[in-house]
Amino acid sequence: MKVVETIKAVRNEVIAAKQTGFSIGFVPTMGYLHEGHVSLIEAARKDHDFVVLSIFVNPLQFGPNEDLDRYPRDFQRDEKIAQKAGVDVIFYPSVHEMYPTNMPMSIHVTSGVDVLCGSSRPGHFDGVATVVMKLLQIVQPNEAYFGQKDAQQLAIIMNMVEAFNVPVNIHGCPTVREEDGLAKSSRNVYLTNEDRAEAPFLYEALKEGANLILSGETRRSVILAELENRLGTGSGRIDYVDVLRYPSLEQSEQLSGKVILAVAYFYKNARLIDNYIVDIQEGEK
Ligand code: PAF
Repeated sequence: MKVVETIKAVRNEVIAAKQTGFSIGFVPTMGYLHEGHVSLIEAARKDHDFVVLSIFVNPLQFGPNEDLDRYPRDFQRDEKIAQKAGVDVIFYPSVHEMYPTNMPMSIHVTSGVDVLCGSSRPGHFDGVATVVMKLLQIVQPNEAYFGQKDAQQLAIIMNMVEAFNVPVNIHGCPTVREEDGLAKSSRNVYLTNEDRAEAPFLYEALKEGANLILSGETRRSVILAELENRLGTGSGRIDYVDVLRYPSLEQSEQLSGKVILAVAYFYKNARLIDNYIVDIQEGEK
């Protein structure tokens, strides 16, 4: 496994791999890898001959009062995990390599951003879309892998790739969970013991809501009230909870087709997100 820090070097690696007839799988991350990332790498490894992983904590997607400075970082640990999971090249650029000057332009996401994380983190998805577009142009993979835990991010990236005709396949992978149901996240390390013990109730609440839908309740307001009720019993604070059509992220009182139940929840030191997607015709996803 190689570690490269420049755009030129990662491009050369990919060009050489393509010249030998290899297909390229790409996993963009912000590092501090956990089993969720490993599942993305394994999916890429299964589908492709050559796997590129990027590790870049992207300042553009953090708001002024967010956790950019204290976002967890441990490159040595990440390197070991990546090697074990079968990565061929880690692209590990500096902020200066990615943004040598103030970006003269950026991608402004205009659809699917007035809900969920988009409304509570203004500008966040512009930052995500901009860096993902850059990374896709740099690496030029056949396929790029993202977790369904960030369901809104995944929907926006799929829309972006379609809107800008980027020749890449976007692959969504299922959320990886701890044994008690808590979604794996780099931010889980911030949780106090008490918060960690309580946090699986987020997933329980989403599952309950999903079960209600599957047992025939299709009024958004009823499902939402049930979710708010359950989440209200926690010791943290709800940032948002919503029930929307997926992937359009539209609000509609009468639920049908694919529906996402999503929550963001503040504990003292960490904001956690989770979601559950159900298909009203086909059962749960
Ligand atoms: O999901 C993430 O880790 C980030 O948002 C991504 C896609 C790597 C862009 O910085």
